[in-house]
Formats: sequence, structure tokens, C-alpha cells
Amino acid sequence: MERSFVIIKPDGTARRRVSALVLKTLMDRGYKVLAFREMKVPESLAKLHYAVHKEKPFFPWLVDFISSAPVLTMIFEADDVIQGVRDALGATFVQKADPTSLRGKYGIWAGVNIAHASDAPETATKEIQLWTAEGGLRESSDAEEQAKAYIEQYSSGDADYTMGIRDVVKNAIENRDTSDNVLQSLVQLLGKDAKGITPEEISALASVIFDFV
Ligand code: RTP
Ligand code: MG
Repeated sequence: MERSFVIIKPDGTARRRVSALVLKTLMDRGYKVLAFREMKVPESLAKLHYAVHKEKPFFPWLVDFISSAPVLTMIFEADDVIQGVRDALGATFVQKADPTSLRGKYGIWAGVNIAHASDAPETATKEIQLWTAEGGLRESSDAEEQAKAYIEQYSSGDADYTMGIRDVVKNAIENRDTSDNVLQSLVQLLGKDAKGITPEEISALASVIFDFV
């Protein structure tokens, strides 16, 4: 049996229905949920989590992104769960991800890609230790029930604005226009299905998404 540490990133969690569908897709693959926690990631933890990328040019952006608004953190357990989650997510960059994969279906743009998943057994062990010590993640006998309740609460309704959001971002890139008006249209779309996420968090997420434009 393997364990994988998974984060539904701010772009997923701020769209409640999308995050519920991502969670459901993963659970339907037969993965047992050992821990489940919604949280805002402190910058210090974001830096430790992505420490392997600390020399990369995108590192400061990545830290800002993951800490901009709440995320869902979880531990899954199953045979081959590490590769299984990564297969379900698809390629890192949204434009390169298979359209049937989770990143291909719900990712927004480039590295604004819905979820993180451990990439090897050693990384999974390190990440689970880190998020237990620094992120308050706890294994619990009701984690599975909490995850099911989340899906139940958020998966109904017609609130997938992925295409609309992609259009706004694509136009902003093509026209090199991230003026207030354009930013506000992104904020409005990101806030439509964001129960429990504050307007400040939505604004922070929108600004981060436009940082690479
Ligand atoms: P993750 O760690 O989040 O599961 O993603 P991954 O293994 O598929 O990709 P990785 O290479 O580990 O990159 C970590 C995250 O950094 C962002 N990224 N941006 N702008 C860029 O060139 C760039 N490259 C990576 C993405 O959010 C990626 O998931
Ligand atoms: Mg990675």
C-alpha cells in the first residue's frame, strides 16, 4: 500500500464545485482518504513544501500562488496511488495536459493547474511529515466522511466557469492587458462559487494569476 499527499490548489478550492469534482474523481478511483483539511497555507510552509524548486525563476510566484487563498490538503492510500493521482491530473502545464485529465478539464493556465500530488514514495513520506508537523494535517477515522460531505455539499449545481476564466486569462495575455477592468472580470468569475473564501483571498488569487501575464 502507498500513500500520496495531495493539495487541491487555490484555483481549485476557490471554485467549490470544481474542487468537489476533482475530489470525487480521485475517490472514485478507489483511494482511501486518511486525512482531509482545508487551510490557508502560510508562506513559510509553502517555501518548505516547494523547497526543491527554490532556485527556479518561478519559485516566488509559486509560493505566492499556493498561499494566496485556501487549499484542500489530503492523504490518500491505495496500491499505486502516487502514479495514479499523477495520471489523473495530467501534465504539469495546463495547455499540455490531456483534455480528459483533471488539469486539462479544470486547470486555468500554465502552472495554475488545480492540484499538487506527490511524485515518489520518498517525497510522499517527506510531504506527509511536513504537513503533519507544520500544516496541522491529521489522520482521522472521519477523514473519508469529511471528504464525502464536501463532495455532497458542493458537487451539484452548474458552476464550472473554467472556460470563461480561461478566456479572460487568454485575452489578457494576448492583449497584454491586466488593467483593473480585466482584473475585476477575473475576480468576479473566481468569486462566483467561492463559498467561505474571502474577497481579499479571491483578489490575491486573481492578482497571482495575472502575475505571469
Ligand atoms: P506539483 O509539484 O504542484 O504537483 O506539480 P508537478 O510535479 O506536476 O510540477 P513541478 O515541476 O513539481 O512544479 C511545481 C509547480 O510549479 C508550477 N510551475 N510553474 N512557470 C513555470 O515554468 C512553472 N513550472 C512549474 C506549477 O504550479 C507546478 O505544478
Ligand atoms: Mg512536483
